[in-house]
Amino acid sequence: MVFGAGGAIGGAMVAELAARSVPEIHGLARAQADILNEEDVALAAARLGADGPLDTVIVATGLLHAPGIAPEKALRDLRQDVLAQVFAVNCIGPALVIKHFLPLLPRDRPARLAVLSARVGSVSDNRLGGWYAYRAAKAALNMVVRSAAIEMARRAPKAVVIALHPGTVESRLSAPFHGGVPATQIVSPALAAKNLADVLEKATPEQSGRVLAFDGQEIAP
Ligand SMILES: NC(=O)c1ccc[n+]([C@@H]2O[C@H](COP(=O)([O-])OP(=O)(O)OC[C@H]3O[C@@H](n4cnc5c(N)ncnc54)[C@H](OP(=O)(O)O)[C@@H]3O)[C@@H](O)[C@H]2O)c1
Repeated sequence: MVFGAGGAIGGAMVAELAARSVPEIHGLARAQADILNEEDVALAAARLGADGPLDTVIVATGLLHAPGIAPEKALRDLRQDVLAQVFAVNCIGPALVIKHFLPLLPRDRPARLAVLSARVGSVSDNRLGGWYAYRAAKAALNMVVRSAAIEMARRAPKAVVIALHPGTVESRLSAPFHGGVPATQIVSPALAAKNLADVLEKATPEQSGRVLAFDGQEIAP
C-alpha cells in the first residue's frame, strides 16, 4: 500500500515493488485519498483491510513548497496559515494514516509501515536553521512514528514502524533547492525507491521507531 503514489518517490516505490514481484500493490494518489480527510483514509483502510492483512504500508506524501508557500529563511517569514498547512500535510496526515493502517498489519509475522521523513527533521543535525515549518513538522512526525512503534511492539512484535530519509531526490518538492547540492548527490526517484526498498527489507523490529536514511544509517533525533 503506497500513499502519495502520484508523487515522484511514491510513484517510483510502486514501480520498485512491482519490479520485486510483490503480488498485489495498491497506490493511492491525492485524488483517491486526501490524507487530510480522515474519512478518505478510513475508507481506504476499510476497503483494503477487507482483503486481509497488509504486509507493507508506505506513506510518501509531503509538502515543502506550493504557490504562496516557501520554506522560511528567518523568523520574520513565519506565517500562521503556512505553519498549519505544512504541519498538517507532513505530520497530521501521516499520523492519521498510521492510526488507520497500523491495525491492518499482521500480528504474527514480519510487516512494515514506513513514512517519508527528512534529515532536516533531526533536531541534533540542524546547523543551518531556517525551514521552520517543514523541519518542525518532520521532527513531530518522527515522534509520532516513535510512539506508534512502541504501541505496535506490544501488539505485533515482528512489525517495523519507521521514518525514512530518501536523500536528495529529483522531484517537484526538491527542485527549487538543488542549488547548493552537488549533482552527484541528487538521485533519481527510481534509485531512491530502490534504496528505500532495500532499507525496508532489511529493517529489524529492534530498529522500529527510528529514522533511517537511504543507506540504512540511523539519523539521530
Ligand atoms: N525529494 C527530496 O529530495 C526529499 C528529501 C527528503 C525528504 N523527502 C520526502 O519524501 C516524500 C516524497 O517527496 P517527493 O520528493 O516524492 O515529492 P512530490 O513528488 O511532491 O510528492 C509528494 C506527494 O504528496 C502528495 N500530497 C500532498 N498533500 C497531500 C494530501 N493532503 N493527500 C494526499 N497526498 C498529498 C502530493 O500530491 P499532489 O501531487 O496532488 O500535490 C505529491 O504527490 C515527502 O514526504 C518529502 O518530504 C523528499
